[in-house]
Amino acid sequence: MTAPKKLFIKTYGCQMNVYDSERMAEELGGQGYSETKSVEDADMILLNTCHIREKAAEKVYSELGRFKKLKAAKPDLKIGVAGCVAQAEGQEIMRRQPLVDLVVGPQSYHRLPEMEAKARSGEKVLDTDFPEEDKFEKLKRRPKAPRGPSAFLTVQEGCDKFCAFCVVPYTRGAEVSRPVDRILTEARDLVERGVREITLLGQNVNAYHGAGPQGDMTLAQLIWELDKVEGLERIRFTTSHPNDMMDDLIEAHATCKKLMPYLHLPVQAGSDRILKRMNRSHTAESYLRLLERIRAARPDILISGDFIVGFPEETEADFQATLDLVEEVKYGTAYSFKYSTRPGTPAAERPQVDPTEADDRLQRLQALLTRQQREIQDSMVGREVGVLFEKPGREAGQMLGKSDYLHAVHVADCGRKAGDLARVRIIESRTNSLAGELID
Ligand code: SAH
Ligand code: SF4
Ligand code: F3S
Repeated sequence: MTAPKKLFIKTYGCQMNVYDSERMAEELGGQGYSETKSVEDADMILLNTCHIREKAAEKVYSELGRFKKLKAAKPDLKIGVAGCVAQAEGQEIMRRQPLVDLVVGPQSYHRLPEMEAKARSGEKVLDTDFPEEDKFEKLKRRPKAPRGPSAFLTVQEGCDKFCAFCVVPYTRGAEVSRPVDRILTEARDLVERGVREITLLGQNVNAYHGAGPQGDMTLAQLIWELDKVEGLERIRFTTSHPNDMMDDLIEAHATCKKLMPYLHLPVQAGSDRILKRMNRSHTAESYLRLLERIRAARPDILISGDFIVGFPEETEADFQATLDLVEEVKYGTAYSFKYSTRPGTPAAERPQVDPTEADDRLQRLQALLTRQQREIQDSMVGREVGVLFEKPGREAGQMLGKSDYLHAVHVADCGRKAGDLARVRIIESRTNSLAGELID
């Protein structure tokens, strides 16, 4: 019997890292670890990191620096770095920050228990392989503890698209889809533990092509399999690439009741010249036509996007084309970033845009996106939506949840509990949420 130990895990980056952190915590659970929210209590600190922009990567080193005192006071404390910085920088992390005991890449974390044991015996351990074995199949734990009503489930990992700005194909490796039966087993386990909503995850989730009983299945076919899982009420997926938005998936948005009317479909830019240099292999026009087809299938669908401004050689006219595209699409939510040079990616070598100019463009784009987001949120007032309650609100009797369109909604005195799904009329639009009342 191993003595109880405490694990503090901090997650950066995308939802796939959130999912991975849960798996790592479960794996280390088998080594006698339980999670703690307090870094001072920890016997092991694990940072699950993101390499997508320079700032994200640098944060890790400043965070690690802050653990120096803790480690001095508690020599048995082990410190690990996981995720995409681990993959991209490997040994360099231990060189820059000697207090790190363990470095594990996103494809190797099923080996974490062995690595932890080695670290405990005083070794420095590093594993950033892309192993032949599938980590998902090697994960041993099938926990049964109850959990919140909404969960992530990774179905596809890696990316073969090689957008000129992006590190993901290098940190996560080639595109791989998990087999259908494994996903269904995991989904049923989640539902048994109280989950009502599953968000299928993948860097390129709509390129999913996992092995099914009669050959490979598409993402839409997988969604229809999940649709049959009793007790599962809502299905979402993210992130999609415009070029993999197949007809059957568009059709599912029209016909599958459990599939929510929300689609994250990043375009990155509105200028064809820039899109070509980004290696996106779609145009602004093809993206707009695609959205027309999606909206014909599901007219109320809420569209979300990602944008990069200040990509190398972006001119004011190119940027204007991004604003024009945004005006035409009307995004319900969006994430916009200033281009960040990533060493080793093709765009890193090209002439960079003046940073003050890029800042100015980002501000203008964000002002427009915030206005659109506001308008769409305000337009929900008076409408009836489904809400999945997740937790009690700040006021007595109040519950908080998410609408079908992923807006945060709170309902006063509602007598419902987490995991309940209700019809709600929206009565007010506030800064970051909607207020609603139950419809009997
Ligand atoms: N697979 C997803 C996105 C993964 S990264 C897709 O293809 O859409 C999430 C977002 O980070 C990207 O959509 C992009 O907008 C942004 N991003 C990626 N690399 C970046 C970089 N070098 N600089 C700034 N933003 C970047
Ligand atoms: Fe990165 Fe492009 Fe792949 Fe998205 S599609 S993960 S932006 S390379
Ligand atoms: Fe970041 Fe890696 Fe996700 S770089 S965005 S954590 S895939």
